[in-house]
Amino acid sequence: MVSAYADMEERMRGRLGGRECLYVPSCRFGLYLALRHWCRPGGRVLMSPVNDDVILFVVLAAGLRPVQAPLDPRNGSIDTAAVPEAVWRDLSAVLTTNLYGNPDPAPELRDRCDRLGVPLIEDAAHAIGSTVGGRPVGTYGEASVFSLSKHTGAKAGGFLALADPALRGELTAARDALLHPTRTTAELAYLLRPYAEATLRGLRLTGAARAAVRRLGLQEREEIRMPLRADALKRALPSAPALEPFHSWVRVDMHDYRLRPGTGRLRRTSRRLDRLDGVLAAHRDGTARLLGSEYGTPGAAEEPAQPLFRVPLLVDDRDAAIDALARHRITTGYVYDPPLDGYAGEAFTEPSPAPGPAAWFARHALPVDPRRADEVLRVLRTAAIRPAHLSAAPGGAR
Ligand SMILES: Cc1ncc(COP(=O)(O)O)c(C=O)c1O
Repeated sequence: MVSAYADMEERMRGRLGGRECLYVPSCRFGLYLALRHWCRPGGRVLMSPVNDDVILFVVLAAGLRPVQAPLDPRNGSIDTAAVPEAVWRDLSAVLTTNLYGNPDPAPELRDRCDRLGVPLIEDAAHAIGSTVGGRPVGTYGEASVFSLSKHTGAKAGGFLALADPALRGELTAARDALLHPTRTTAELAYLLRPYAEATLRGLRLTGAARAAVRRLGLQEREEIRMPLRADALKRALPSAPALEPFHSWVRVDMHDYRLRPGTGRLRRTSRRLDRLDGVLAAHRDGTARLLGSEYGTPGAAEEPAQPLFRVPLLVDDRDAAIDALARHRITTGYVYDPPLDGYAGEAFTEPSPAPGPAAWFARHALPVDPRRADEVLRVLRTAAIRPAHLSAAPGGAR
């Protein structure tokens, strides 16, 4: 088992300039491990409000209070200059998101965290091939976490990368103590899922059939944000830090997030990781085309393209764009609207001191898979979808 991980860990280590890497069954699980190790319960963590809601629940499960950061409306990265001094002084950690692969300003955040004496934790789920300040995303923090469900499409697996290799033993023990045992049924479902999905794609599904697919767990969310269930969440809070009371929130989109992987799953994940460089090249290529279009962030195409996981095109009417794409059987995922402070409210998070730019970005960003760049641009132009203008965004006229 350990040796099955070792090969993948070694390959990931090579990508991160020799950083110690620990295999984890999911990025969210790696994040929980990191938050538990570096942050005392009751602490406050600066994070991005334009983010997967699962991450908010991981922070809550770790016994921490999320503090939402102001964002840059151009790409949804943390706007460090807009974080008030009083907010910095009160933090126990900074968590980056690197939304869609666009890096947060890690060198600046590293410097801030050093001065404050708090850890920087990088969520690099979307940013496996991105760089910032000449270094890979994930090489600035005390810890960084990666997801093999994104670029590699393995739908399982991830890494916790450590700045201090001496922590490997301790974090391996913490990981193993939290893993649930391998389940044969879950392994079988995982291995059969691509075949089931291919069959479903081949069928033109009716509404009823689509509902059945959702019930089977192949597509879990009815809406962009999962139902908050505020009363149940309030009842869970006093039990933090712990995963069990938060399981029904943390597991959304990936019920196997803390399952010890079987050999079949590891083999498939490893094969997917083998193909990563080709995937990154395709993402980089499509990113350049999308950012160079009328829907790209102004100025972004002048920088060397990153292999973005999704390219946030800026469109005037995001929902009309999603509908136009859906008519061509192109599904849009990874929309994070509304931002987490609007979604969860003050009972569960500190609101951003400047929510306007994040709200604008969340409303206008259309996350596009760069491998479908040409097809998407054709659909958007034919449907007369208009670009959104940054000059209309709060803080956008920089
Ligand atoms: C920003 C971000 N971080 C972490 C995760 C969790 O990754 P995983 O599904 O591997 O737990 C996601 C999932 O979509 C994500 O969008």
